[in-house]
Amino acid sequence: MNSRTLLVYFSLTDKTRETAEFISIDIECDIERIKLQTDPGDDIFRIKTQIREGTESLFLIEPPTCDLQQYGTVIIGMPVWENDVPPPIKSFLLQKDWRGVTMHPFFSSGGIHKDVLRNLQRLCPGARLASHLFLIFDLNGNYLGAEE
Ligand SMILES: Cc1cc2nc3c(=O)[nH]c(=O)nc-3n(C[C@H](O)[C@H](O)[C@H](O)COP(=O)(O)O)c2cc1C
Repeated sequence: MNSRTLLVYFSLTDKTRETAEFISIDIECDIERIKLQTDPGDDIFRIKTQIREGTESLFLIEPPTCDLQQYGTVIIGMPVWENDVPPPIKSFLLQKDWRGVTMHPFFSSGGIHKDVLRNLQRLCPGARLASHLFLIFDLNGNYLGAEE
């Protein structure tokens, strides 16, 4: 089995990015940041409306460069959007074959995330979801704590 680790993440307001950078200090891994083709802006209510209306085309991502065949373990980080996996990560997951991959997800959120793990598993059939971590931030971006 492949022993290499990939750390892949999407971050809009940098909380997930900061966590990804901390993780990468301690773990030897390759890193891929999922990037949107178009800046969604910072109007959270507009982004929420676009998600609810299913305007997925507004969340098109730059083509990912990683080759999953090279990795046995994937650490994947994302903000929770609408109690769900954010559309850019959904796009990424749906482009890949997850069979045989062990996945360690981490999420940044304001604490409302009860459906996200189940939804994540549906998007990567064949992956084994191992340990996960929820990092909780308040509305000002202050770190409040972690939940396993
Ligand atoms: C469009 C949108 C939807 C969000 N939905 C949720 C949610 O359902 N539950 C929650 O706890 N936080 C929600 N948040 C807050 C983010 O999950 C939180 O601010 C996260 O730390 C941002 O991570 P980032 O800085 O890496 O983008 C939402 C934020 C945005 C922009």
